[in-house]
Amino acid sequence: MDLIVAADRNWGIGKDGGLLAHIPTDMKYFKDHTMGKVVVMGRKTLESMPGGKGLPGRINYVLSTRRDFAAERCITVGSIDELHEELGKYDPDEVFLIGGAALYNRLYRECERLYITKIDADLGADTFIVNIDEDPAFEIESESGPVTENGLTYRFTVYRKKENKGEHEAQTDISGC
Ligand SMILES: NC(=O)c1ccc[n+]([C@@H]2O[C@H](COP(=O)([O-])OP(=O)(O)OC[C@H]3O[C@@H](n4cnc5c(N)ncnc54)[C@H](OP(=O)(O)O)[C@@H]3O)[C@@H](O)[C@H]2O)c1
Repeated sequence: MDLIVAADRNWGIGKDGGLLAHIPTDMKYFKDHTMGKVVVMGRKTLESMPGGKGLPGRINYVLSTRRDFAAERCITVGSIDELHEELGKYDPDEVFLIGGAALYNRLYRECERLYITKIDADLGADTFIVNIDEDPAFEIESESGPVTENGLTYRFTVYRKKENKGEHEAQTDISGC
């Protein structure tokens, strides 16, 4: 599984239940990476999308503890265990975690690659993910040059999970999970 998110310089990702910024090139980046794939999201992220529907052209999994939760184009799962069971049907390279904070923070360590659009601004977020730069299990694999759009400067940064190298083993070995 991989993860994709846009975060500001404080690792803020959302405000008032919505996104922090509208960056068309980033929306295209998101679409290009996820189209035709399996996407996984929390119920609040789904409800922040237009019409509260799953994304077209993708297999949408939504996590909710509400047994009766249903939404168009979505498959609802009630727990992380159930999610893992479902995701077992797919090639892990075909699965993207798309938010929000509750799911990113719970599941990012299971991801191989983190596609993070890093916006160089404080956008007044009320919802945050962990600071990936402080997690020794990940390293930057690639980073674009700065791009400025709609008055915001950002970079497309890709983090990759480090190979297990003894000293980090205790933190990164999730093979028993
Ligand atoms: N910047 C970005 O790229 C980006 C991407 C996505 C989202 N966002 C933003 O992130 C914010 C939403 O994030 P959030 O953390 O508030 O919500 P969220 O992660 O989208 O959804 C949380 C909900 O998911 C369900 N859930 C979470 N863990 C679960 C578990 N272990 N088992 C079963 N269900 C579980 C629960 O739904 P129930 O309450 O129904 O049980 C929970 O209330 C919004 O502002 C959104 O715009 C930003």
